[in-house]
Amino acid sequence: MKDELRIGRELLYLTREEVMKTGFTEEDILGLTRDALVAHGTKDYEMPAKIGVHPYKEVFFHAMPAYVPAKEAVGMKWIECYPQNPERFGLPQTTGLLVLNDVASGCPVAVMDATWITSMRTPAVTVLAAEALHPRPEAFGMFGCGVQGIEHCKFVVHRLKNLKKIYIHDIREAAMDRLIREVQPLIDVEIVKGKSPEAVTKSCQVLSSATVILLDPLAVVKDEWVSKGQTLLPCDLNTFWDPVTSSRADKYIVDSAEEHRLFADMGYFPDGLPEIACETGEVVAGTAKGRESAEELIVCSNIGMAVCDVVVGRAVLDRALEMKMGRKLPL
Ligand SMILES: NC(=O)c1ccc[n+]([C@@H]2O[C@H](COP(=O)([O-])OP(=O)(O)OC[C@H]3O[C@@H](n4cnc5c(N)ncnc54)[C@H](O)[C@@H]3O)[C@@H](O)[C@H]2O)c1
Repeated sequence: MKDELRIGRELLYLTREEVMKTGFTEEDILGLTRDALVAHGTKDYEMPAKIGVHPYKEVFFHAMPAYVPAKEAVGMKWIECYPQNPERFGLPQTTGLLVLNDVASGCPVAVMDATWITSMRTPAVTVLAAEALHPRPEAFGMFGCGVQGIEHCKFVVHRLKNLKKIYIHDIREAAMDRLIREVQPLIDVEIVKGKSPEAVTKSCQVLSSATVILLDPLAVVKDEWVSKGQTLLPCDLNTFWDPVTSSRADKYIVDSAEEHRLFADMGYFPDGLPEIACETGEVVAGTAKGRESAEELIVCSNIGMAVCDVVVGRAVLDRALEMKMGRKLPL
């Protein structure tokens, strides 16, 4: 980096398009995200729980700092979640910026759009967790067919090699149509519109949800539809699934116990935070047990960790500098 950037004098600014043009594939993102999860699972990181501000009910901004020594990656994502954005403004519900710093001097070295990184590292976490917890399902279910739903369907085929079908569900028909239009030409596994949340839940061994994050659970999926042996991987905290399911699961695994406790303190688990078995990174790193029997019901809640953002962001920065992309701005 020192050869390409006058550290302390300038930083590199990358737009969303430039970040995407660095050309990282889904496999690359899976590799980088795995490294970040292993660093987390082996406790080789620093990442305080997100702090946030909340201009209205149900919206949040989060400050997400992290340091991953093994990757010389340090920085902070500043991300918002405005669930009404698509409807009100035709804008994504999640947008943000990533700031990266030089580990040696501390100086800022990059500011880049974090929307694409978020949309890629999130399904990578789901899929790496699914691979560790339930590697050979025949059917995968996806609730929510927006930005995250689309990327989840693209990523899932990279690791769940036995898949025969992907069932999708969204309250908006147009979102399901768009997902099929965009993703089906890219993957061999058939994507099918589920008839109802109940039908999708009962048809799949592994399921994920990326809908909205609300203080009070919507509990769209009733607990009685969920059976032993399934693996549920929500990206939307405790909103979509009946909270009873997480509490009665044989294992409730989370990406960050500290983050989940913070969300519980903010009021996101009105019925109480279920007992946490271990963290996703520990399962991926092999330092904690994942699935121990075919009958176990496992819920693995991944709310998003800055360690993943800074590791992917650092790789994007290095590649962008190599490719001479982006604008250098004076400090
Ligand atoms: N865990 C993480 O790391 C992480 C990262 C990014 C986003 N998220 C969360 O994932 C969720 C989705 O994000 P996105 O960027 O894909 O948003 P998006 O707006 O692009 O898509 C959300 C989709 O969910 C659908 N939906 C809403 N309520 C539904 C319901 N009751 N049943 C079925 N479908 C429903 C919407 O119609 C929409 O198509 C948000 O809650 C966001 O905060 C989590």
